[in-house]
Amino acid sequence: MRILVLHGPNLNLLGSREPGLYGSHSLAEINAELSQRALLLGVELTCYQSNHEGALVDRIQQASGEADGILINAGAYTHTSIALRDALLAVALPYVELHLSNVHAREEFRQTSYLADRALGVICGFGVASYYLALEAVVGHLKAKNQ
Ligand code: DQA
Repeated sequence: MRILVLHGPNLNLLGSREPGLYGSHSLAEINAELSQRALLLGVELTCYQSNHEGALVDRIQQASGEADGILINAGAYTHTSIALRDALLAVALPYVELHLSNVHAREEFRQTSYLADRALGVICGFGVASYYLALEAVVGHLKAKNQ
């Protein structure tokens, strides 16, 4: 079982970016912890970050045949990107949308998601644990489906 983790714009700055909102862990630390947890769950994990919408679209397209499920924190593109939505629907892989912060407790524009209605589910507000919960959720879904 192969999982692709996608991090969108500005998430390369985690650790120093608005730590009151997003916590003190760097993206490298989050990826390392995700990899450890993936190992324990017996799944292969690939992580990718880009600040560029088109690069994320390319990476989603590439996932077809290379991954069984996707975790995506699309950052601000969550609230704007029809292109990311279309790419996810095109590859038709199950995905979980996640956010470190509780987007529903923030500005109104963050409460729109172009990805949420076609996701397996959405996890937000638990800081780095949102990533770990999302990993468990997608792996649980895939294991149940493969039984
Ligand atoms: C975020 C929430 C988004 O609204 C914001 O643009 C981000 C990070 C989060 O993880 O909480 O970049 O996706």
